[in-house]
Amino acid sequence: MPILEGQGVTKYFGGLAAVSNVDFHVDQGEIAGLIGPNGAGKTTLFGLISAALVPNPGLIRFKGEDITGIKPHQICRKGLARTFQSVKIFPNIPVIDNVALGVHFGTPEQATATQAVEEATRLLEFVGLSAQAAVPARDLTLVNQKLLEVARALATKPKVLLLDEIMAGLNHTEVAQAMELVSKIRAQGITILMIEHVMKAIMSVCDRIMVLHHGKKIAEGTPQEIATSETVIKVYLGE
Ligand SMILES: Nc1ncnc2c1ncn2[C@@H]1O[C@H](COP(=O)(O)OP(=O)(O)O)[C@@H](O)[C@H]1O
Ligand SMILES: [Mg+2]
Repeated sequence: MPILEGQGVTKYFGGLAAVSNVDFHVDQGEIAGLIGPNGAGKTTLFGLISAALVPNPGLIRFKGEDITGIKPHQICRKGLARTFQSVKIFPNIPVIDNVALGVHFGTPEQATATQAVEEATRLLEFVGLSAQAAVPARDLTLVNQKLLEVARALATKPKVLLLDEIMAGLNHTEVAQAMELVSKIRAQGITILMIEHVMKAIMSVCDRIMVLHHGKKIAEGTPQEIATSETVIKVYLGE
């Protein structure tokens, strides 16, 4: 059974169908990729899955449960976390407190302040931001702000993690590090759905790829199938 699935997922902004009748699924334990040209509806689909937006019409199921129309904090506590393409950190508080907030948000009853800081310390180490723990989050580079969002999302103890273009603007070495990080996250039993434009990363890290274009899912398959799909090549070369 898929851990996450959508049926007929649709979202209009005014007259524009940003996401149009999309069926999708993500299987437990996989790294699934979501690609498509700018404006294809990828981030909007993340908004719908993470309950920031409500599909109309459409249905989203998480762990077999219909979660359509629930609140973002509810979906987070059920075990689904995301990062944001345009980062949404708390700029004026230290990096470590950004992550500790994630611990409290994901597990509101259980964590003491000390436990939250311990867990945040571990997660900053995990994403490679230990040296920046004490600085205000606004002082991080954009690349590191994205890593901070990954740590904060992980702090909520997700079963499924949605990553929205965490590799944008990275150099070759940093892309390689980010790919390793994604693999390390999956190795902890976390299922991943990632939006990415860095084709090399998508092709080597994903088990399966879905392609959106003008709000519609136009292709789905293994990296090999997607790389050789005439439909997909036409969409990208036509841009
Ligand atoms: N909040 C919004 N209000 C109106 N239009 C939006 C909004 N968010 C996204 N759109 C539009 O929906 C389409 C899909 O956007 P988006 O999901 O951000 O695409 P992608 O992430 O694939 O680049 C675009 O045409 C975009 O301009
Ligand atoms: Mg986007």
